[in-house]
Parts: sequence; structure tokens; C-alpha cells
Amino acid sequence: MIIRDMSTKDLDQVIEIEQHSFPTPWKKESFYHELHHNIYAHYLVIEIEEQVIGYCGIWIVMDDAQITNIAITPAYRGRSYGEALLMAAMNRCRIEKAEQLSLEVRVSNHIAQSLYRKLGFQPGGIRKNYYSDNGEDALLMWVKLNES
Ligand SMILES: CC(C)(COP(=O)(O)OP(=O)(O)OC[C@H]1O[C@@H](n2cnc3c(N)ncnc32)[C@H](O)[C@@H]1OP(=O)(O)O)[C@@H](O)C(=O)NCCC(=O)NCCS
Repeated sequence: MIIRDMSTKDLDQVIEIEQHSFPTPWKKESFYHELHHNIYAHYLVIEIEEQVIGYCGIWIVMDDAQITNIAITPAYRGRSYGEALLMAAMNRCRIEKAEQLSLEVRVSNHIAQSLYRKLGFQPGGIRKNYYSDNGEDALLMWVKLNES
């Protein structure tokens, strides 16, 4: 298993995972824009035998980092790959001198919330009607990187 920076050639596999993971999936162009035109973006993939099985995006602006998306392909879930990927993303944030990392997660997404809590994230508030597809609230979660 390796975790490395995402490149353009990964995008077809990334899009496939994205479509199986989110109700309003990002399009390939959005990932392309992130890789080539967003100076704050860092995108990692996790790969097994040359197959991309997951990815995680972060934006790092000064000492503040945010997760944009994280997903593992359904067949590989529950085998600690998500945890390994999130730990790698947190390490990237530390290398880039970010001090805190935050994210939004659907209030119904207990699996992801459990992963985040395991890695030290705390709840930080609710964003009402955050998700446009069903009006679901988002739970804001954050972690101090020098304490985790
Ligand atoms: C969230 C996600 C990335 C987790 O990846 P994963 O590889 O399946 O998770 P891991 O196997 O590394 O599990 C790590 C922790 O997550 C939690 N978790 C994982 N699967 C779980 C399940 N079925 N039920 C409850 N908690 C679960 C547990 O806390 C687990 O720690 P443990 O093994 O000590 O119990 C994955 O489920 C996914 O891609 N979901 C769809 C996309 C998504 O919801 N992304 C998050 C958007 S905010």
C-alpha cells in the first residue's frame, strides 16, 4: 500500500470512487482544477497494486487546513485504509505548518464521524441546511495538529 500525491492520470479512478461515495459527486474538471489551479490544494491517493482505492483532499491556507473530501472505494472499506489516509493527510498538514484541521461531515454519517473522533477530532458546531441535495445539517469537526 502506498500513499502519494494525486496526479492527472489518477482522475478516472478517483471519479469512479467519488461517484460511489457521495450523493453529489464532484466532476473530473473540479479535481483537475484543484490539481492544476488551486495553490492551496493538496490531494493524496492511496494505492494498492497500482489501483487507486481512495483519496483525500486538503486546503492549507497559512496555519489553517480543511479537508475537502475523503473516500475509500466501497470494496476496501473497513480495512483501516481510511484511517491510514487521514493520518497521512494530517501529517502533510503538519509538514506544511498548519496548526488546526477542520472538516464538515453529514450529521447522519456516523462512520466518518467515528473515524474523525478516533484521530482526535472534536465537534465544533452545526452548519444548518449545509447539504443542497437533502438540506441535511453538517457537523463541523476540528483537531489541533500539534496535540494529536
Ligand atoms: C469514511 C471512510 C473514508 C472510512 O474509511 P474506511 O477505510 O472504511 O475506515 P477504516 O477501516 O480506516 O476505519 C477507521 C475507523 O472508522 C470508523 N469506522 C469504519 N467503518 C465503520 C463502520 N462500518 N461502522 C462504524 N465505524 C466505522 C471506526 O472508528 C474505525 O476505527 P476502528 O477500526 O478502530 O473501529 C469510508 O467509509 C468512506 O469512503 N465513506 C464514504 C465517503 C464518506 O463518507 N467520506 C467522508 C465524508 S465527510
